[in-house]
Amino acid sequence: MRSNFTLLALALAATYFSGAAAADAPKVAQKAAYKVGFAQTESNNPWRLAETKSFQDVAASCGWQVIFTDAGGSAAKQVADIDSLIAQKVDLLVFPPREDKPLIPAVMKAKKAGIPVILVDRDVDHKLAKPGVDYITFIGSDFIDQGRRAADALVKATGGKANIIELEGSTGASAATDRKKGFDAEIAKHPGMKIVASQSGDFNRDKGRQLAQTLLQAHPEANAVYGHNDEMAVGAITAIEAAGKVPGKDIFVVSIDGQRNALDAIIAGKMVATVQSSPYFGGISCKIAQASAKGEKIPAWVKVEDKIYDISNAAKDIAEGF
Ligand code: AHR
Repeated sequence: MRSNFTLLALALAATYFSGAAAADAPKVAQKAAYKVGFAQTESNNPWRLAETKSFQDVAASCGWQVIFTDAGGSAAKQVADIDSLIAQKVDLLVFPPREDKPLIPAVMKAKKAGIPVILVDRDVDHKLAKPGVDYITFIGSDFIDQGRRAADALVKATGGKANIIELEGSTGASAATDRKKGFDAEIAKHPGMKIVASQSGDFNRDKGRQLAQTLLQAHPEANAVYGHNDEMAVGAITAIEAAGKVPGKDIFVVSIDGQRNALDAIIAGKMVATVQSSPYFGGISCKIAQASAKGEKIPAWVKVEDKIYDISNAAKDIAEGF
């Protein structure tokens, strides 16, 4: 069932669509210095902290004075934060939309105010707002392919026979929707692989731990866990051990991100693999903003390429973990 907030967001989006939706997305102006708004979704895990830091690191060299906001895990708060950044007349807005529909009105409001928007890491629903038309571009990974690669790693680790618990990310987040799509489609190709339970742990370590605990009790036949991110997978490892089982032996764990704690878990034999999902969007956002200011054509999707970490490279590449 849709929340009242989502319904309100869709109604507001419809209002904006009936207005100035036809013009191209506002471009970045040519200036010596820029006031940039970066509206973060939450700051309760290493991935988000690394993402925010990448903007702090690039700010001076890009001529940006960045105003940071933190929505504390609430799409409604992120919309309010963006409203405030629009009121402060920033020259550019950059943000990861926490969920793909509730943030549409924020994108459209910025467009109406003539403020260019770059979406990073997560995208919005293209049926409601389009890159190149309503915002400059989406910079991010191919989440469907990340899910497919996680499934492939699990098929190899289990010899194609597994009962899988899937820990989904935040409901309505493009990262969760697409990581599920890619994983489930790949698993469906293997008759010996079955997803026995799939629920949201909100990309959160402790929620992932609690959910894994509940689902492991309900499904004693489970021998695999797929986390949509490393935080939940690390939480699941704690739950597996608390249940008296051995991760990497009784239960195979795969996930996505490439956090330091996941690389440590791979080295310790507790996790099979994690597909990289880079949080470092500061530098590439700077380059895209500069290209926009020069009037260059920007692709609708600036795709970030990911690798996969497993026992073959986790120790060698440990410094890449965040
Ligand atoms: O949108 C990317 C996801 O969001 C990362 O995988 C996760 O760790 C973060 O919270």
